[in-house]
Amino acid sequence: MKALCWHGKNDVRIDTVADPKIENPRDAIIRVTATAICGSDVHLLDGYMPTMEPGDILGHEFMGEVVELGSSVQNLKRGDRVVVPFTMACGQCFFCQKSLFAACDMSNPNAKMAEKFMGHSPSGLFGYSHMLGGFSGGQAEYVRVPFADVGPYKVPAGLPDEKVLFLSDIFPTGYMAAENAEIEPGDTVAVWGCGPVGQFCIRSAWMLGAGRVIAIDRVPERLRLAEEYGKAETIDFSKVKVYDHLQELTRGRGPDRCIDAVGAESHAWASWDAALDAAKATVGLGTDRPHVVREAMMCCRKAGTISMPGVYFGYLDKMPFGAFVNKGLTLKSGQTHVHRYFKPLMAAIESNKIDPAGIITHRAKLADAPAMYKKFRDKEDGCIKVVMTP
Ligand SMILES: NC(=O)c1ccc[n+]([C@@H]2O[C@H](COP(=O)([O-])OP(=O)(O)OC[C@H]3O[C@@H](n4cnc5c(N)ncnc54)[C@H](O)[C@@H]3O)[C@@H](O)[C@H]2O)c1
Ligand SMILES: [Zn+2]
Ligand SMILES: [Zn+2]
Repeated sequence: MKALCWHGKNDVRIDTVADPKIENPRDAIIRVTATAICGSDVHLLDGYMPTMEPGDILGHEFMGEVVELGSSVQNLKRGDRVVVPFTMACGQCFFCQKSLFAACDMSNPNAKMAEKFMGHSPSGLFGYSHMLGGFSGGQAEYVRVPFADVGPYKVPAGLPDEKVLFLSDIFPTGYMAAENAEIEPGDTVAVWGCGPVGQFCIRSAWMLGAGRVIAIDRVPERLRLAEEYGKAETIDFSKVKVYDHLQELTRGRGPDRCIDAVGAESHAWASWDAALDAAKATVGLGTDRPHVVREAMMCCRKAGTISMPGVYFGYLDKMPFGAFVNKGLTLKSGQTHVHRYFKPLMAAIESNKIDPAGIITHRAKLADAPAMYKKFRDKEDGCIKVVMTP
């Protein structure tokens, strides 16, 4: 089959690889009908994630049709259309029992590797390094889905792929980020980053009762989408000082809730600290560029909450922990417990409360994936979200 493979920093290619096979009675094989490129994939393209190996198949936002089932998968049948959560969960361990699916203890066979980096291993992820399981991803014609008796969700007939595909990741991610922000009715919520995740953070903040949503980015079409799709006020960080502007908009109190939907690759020249992070990364003295976390800690109102769906990898320095502690802030983060959100968010789609397809700007064939990765990363051609069909 054809699949998009990682070959190193800035090098992803379509390769011909072996078809996936059932390896465990709980597996399913899915014929992929739609797959998207995520901001997390950009971190792979840019070489941020350790333990990637040349030839690894990427892709963790995908859906498709069940073509083969392991002997113990009873909840699915051949021909079912399913969306697959990007976090893998066994459904039985201590964490899965608590609905903390992204913390599943059983789905990462390489947990020992992850423990070295993080103390404990998160769940296995599709197409996201060997330390997170070495599982092949879904930017491919076919994909093996472990724990198919737990993860994949059937799509009600009549809903097109584009409306439900983002239930695999970014819609639940935005929703969980808004939940983690502990929004109280009427709160002012500031969202850094108007990429796909930021857009769903904005929509979810409204769903959870925000009184005001302020979105921050510098890419004109992303700011425009935040205004039109997200009904948010916007700040262009290339034109004004974010701290000053947020304080002005909130009469000096600061936003009640701050969401970092940017992650490790904050725009390198957004400020002196971001420039320093970029310079340090270039010479191997640092990894991530956590400008947004620092800025959120400074901007957030006292006793407010910072929610971090944005992904980080290494050891972050120059954190204003004095502000964090003395202002009494709360910080919540994590890979998304996707399984938890499938039913309520599917209901929101079915009742037309939201059409996730509204953020798609580019539709392409899987064969064009290498070019689309670069277009998405470099924000060329107004690219905000790419959906590909094999
Ligand atoms: N926690 C999870 O489970 C999960 C799931 C999906 C994605 N993510 C992460 O969420 C993050 C965003 O993903 P995405 O797909 O929206 O990516 P994206 O790269 O398309 O969007 C990031 C946006 O942040 C903007 N930005 C950069 N620097 C900024 C700054 N200083 N201030 C404000 N905005 C700035 C960029 O212009 C861009 O529009 C990534 O780190 C991704 O890995 C996490
Ligand atoms: Zn993702
Ligand atoms: Zn589990």
